[in-house]
Amino acid sequence: MPENIMHRDRTVTKWIEEISRVIVQEKDAQLDIEQKTAANDLVTNMDKWVEKELVKRIRTAYPKDRIVGEEGFGDSIKDMSGTVWFVDPIDGTLNFVLQNENFALMLAIFEDGVPVQSYIYDITLNKLYSAIKGEGVSCNGQQMSKPKDVSLCDGMLATNSSIMIEDKYDKVRKIARKSLGLRLVGSAGLETVEVAKGSIAAYIATNLKPWDVAPGILFMEELGLKATQFNNEPLDLLKNNNIVFAAPKAHEEIMRLIN
Ligand code: IPD
Ligand code: CA
Ligand code: CA
Ligand code: CA
Repeated sequence: MPENIMHRDRTVTKWIEEISRVIVQEKDAQLDIEQKTAANDLVTNMDKWVEKELVKRIRTAYPKDRIVGEEGFGDSIKDMSGTVWFVDPIDGTLNFVLQNENFALMLAIFEDGVPVQSYIYDITLNKLYSAIKGEGVSCNGQQMSKPKDVSLCDGMLATNSSIMIEDKYDKVRKIARKSLGLRLVGSAGLETVEVAKGSIAAYIATNLKPWDVAPGILFMEELGLKATQFNNEPLDLLKNNNIVFAAPKAHEEIMRLIN
């Protein structure tokens, strides 16, 4: 592994450990909860604190880099040149507020549009999943093996609530019918991890933001899995995407059913 990537990996891992320790310590404290665009679109003081803290650390250690963060403390970008960090301080804010589990802290680093490092930290289970270009994927430092290539009929399908609520994608029902079962966790990051582990054959979701999907690209790439938009094009991190993260066989079936 190149020295600069190894060093940045150690730095990011330390930041994630330190910041998430505060999230766990403060878990029972009263949250300040605000609505953003709707009653199901929430942000808490903790989302904001985590993003501010990460942005501060990135700007100090890597002042030339650009940052795209969900809660708006980063930069707005129009291209992917140079080093770009994607930050989702708490992925699954509704779960964080209502369940106190099933949420993750996520970071992804791209160099000239190429994903080089990705992190998804399941805070309550204390599991840090990281992907490094050319080095595979690990969970708490233990290398993960490539999952089996499964068809839809041998696995489960995960999806997000916008597909179900908006019902724009009628074809999704056909895909669900072919699978063994349907799962909705409410955290794009943790659903990405399930695909990486092979416990879910495919995750399909509409209207995901760049920070929801950025880490998943490298996880899929390193494990021989697929990450595309519904139209089979690569993901575009300058806009929202309808995405499919899947085992190759399941991906091929989904492409046939959706297009
Ligand atoms: C949300 C979660 C959810 C997905 C939403 C995302 P947030 O992220 O990943 O699973 O369906 O589209 O916005 O807002 O909790 O970070
Ligand atoms: Ca949000
Ligand atoms: Ca998110
Ligand atoms: Ca979030």
